[in-house]
Amino acid sequence: MKTPLLQENDIRARIWMELQRAALDRHHEWRTPVLANVAHDAQGEPVPQARTVVLRHADAARQQLHLFTDRRSPKALQLARHPNASLVFWSKRLSWQLRVQARVEVLTEGGLVQEAWQRVGQSAAAADYLAANAPGALLQDAPDGPDTAGPPGAVLSGAHHLAVLVLQAQEMDWLELGRAGHRRASFGPLGWSWRVP
Ligand SMILES: Cc1cc2nc3c(=O)[nH]c(=O)nc-3n(C[C@H](O)[C@H](O)[C@H](O)COP(=O)(O)O)c2cc1C
Repeated sequence: MKTPLLQENDIRARIWMELQRAALDRHHEWRTPVLANVAHDAQGEPVPQARTVVLRHADAARQQLHLFTDRRSPKALQLARHPNASLVFWSKRLSWQLRVQARVEVLTEGGLVQEAWQRVGQSAAAADYLAANAPGALLQDAPDGPDTAGPPGAVLSGAHHLAVLVLQAQEMDWLELGRAGHRRASFGPLGWSWRVP
């Protein structure tokens, strides 16, 4: 017997369930989406920027996704100026791509940042947020191997530089690849629309 295809409400619920799982499970394929945003080059021309990030938290009720970054990173500075971003997830297991259009708030202090630091501060990743030099800063020489003290950025400073990126989802674009045919839908404050894949 054929498994019935999920419909609108089930798809929406399943998406948020998978996002919540991904934030907890380092092996989930949605754990490491690509975050894209707009930056500007030296001439002031808008240029796209995209990079892999780790999904840290998903809140279905608030429609929010959380990421961690260094508050001095180019992305944090770009997003503070231009808060529109897109997060792209792909899962082979689900055969689902999810694109989330969001407004981003860059939090550098407050309860959420303190909570995040309590989590990260205990882990090996803590050093990433304690480096004296900002991410992307130029190095004089090639960095040494992982067995040495590492690049100048690895010198630890006193205060941490962890920022929480809070993405408020505006619109989602869901694409399901299927042998019998693909399905696509978008949904947001204006409701649900099925679309041509
Ligand atoms: C698997 C993976 C996970 C990553 N997770 C994060 C992350 O959660 N936060 C982050 O700031 N950078 C993360 N990075 C590094 C970014 O992809 C990027 O190289 C770095 O943050 C600099 O980006 P920017 O110059 O646009 O700020 C990750 C890279 C990889 C490969």
